[in-house]
Amino acid sequence: MTDWAYSDVVKDHFMNPRNVLTQDGDIRIDGEGRVGNVKCGDEMRFVIQVDDEKGVIEEVRWKTYGCASAIASTSLLSEAVKGMTLDEAFDVTPKDIAERLGGLPENKIHCSVLGDKALRAAINDYYTRKGLTEKVRTEKARIVCQCMNVTDHEIEEAVLEGVRTYLELQEHTKLGTVCGQCKDEAVRLMNGYVERHFSPG
Ligand code: FES
Repeated sequence: MTDWAYSDVVKDHFMNPRNVLTQDGDIRIDGEGRVGNVKCGDEMRFVIQVDDEKGVIEEVRWKTYGCASAIASTSLLSEAVKGMTLDEAFDVTPKDIAERLGGLPENKIHCSVLGDKALRAAINDYYTRKGLTEKVRTEKARIVCQCMNVTDHEIEEAVLEGVRTYLELQEHTKLGTVCGQCKDEAVRLMNGYVERHFSPG
C-alpha cells in the first residue's frame, strides 16, 4: 500500500490544513490540550476559544508534527467542532472523522485519534481553568488482565494499531499469558473496539 491510497478529501486537508496554529496570540486560548504518541513519533497541540455563556466552541487552532493522517483528520475535526457545544465536541469520535474523510487506511486510524484526544484534553482544561472541575470528563482506564496489568485502554490502542485476534492481542500486550482468566473479557472488549472503530455506519 502506498500513501496515495488516501482519498481526495484527505489529500486536500493534508495539502491545505485548516485552522493551523501559526503563532501564539492568534486566538484567545481558553483551553489547551497536548498529547503525543510515542510510537508515531508525533505530538499534537489543540487550543480552543469558548463562548462562556453558550458553552460553544468559537474558534480552534492546532499544530502537529504528525503524519498525513494526523494532519488531515485534525484539520477536518477543527472545522467540524467550530460552533459545537463542548459536550457535542467531546463526543466526536475518530470514526466520525475517518468517515467524513472518505476513510483512512486501517493502520493509520491510530494517528487520527491524536487530534481527538487533544481536543478532549483542551475541553477538560477549559473546565479546570474555569473552576468547573465537576464537568471534567476523564476516561479512567480499567485493568482487564490483573496478572500483566493490562487495561481496556491498552486493548483499544492495540486494536487501533491493527490487532484483530486474541493471539495478536497477547503478543502485543502480553495480556492473558499467565492465568488466562481474562481471555473472555479481553476478546469481548477487543471485538467491541473493532466494531466501534472499524465497522461501517
Ligand atoms: S488475568 Fe490475565 S493472565 Fe491472569
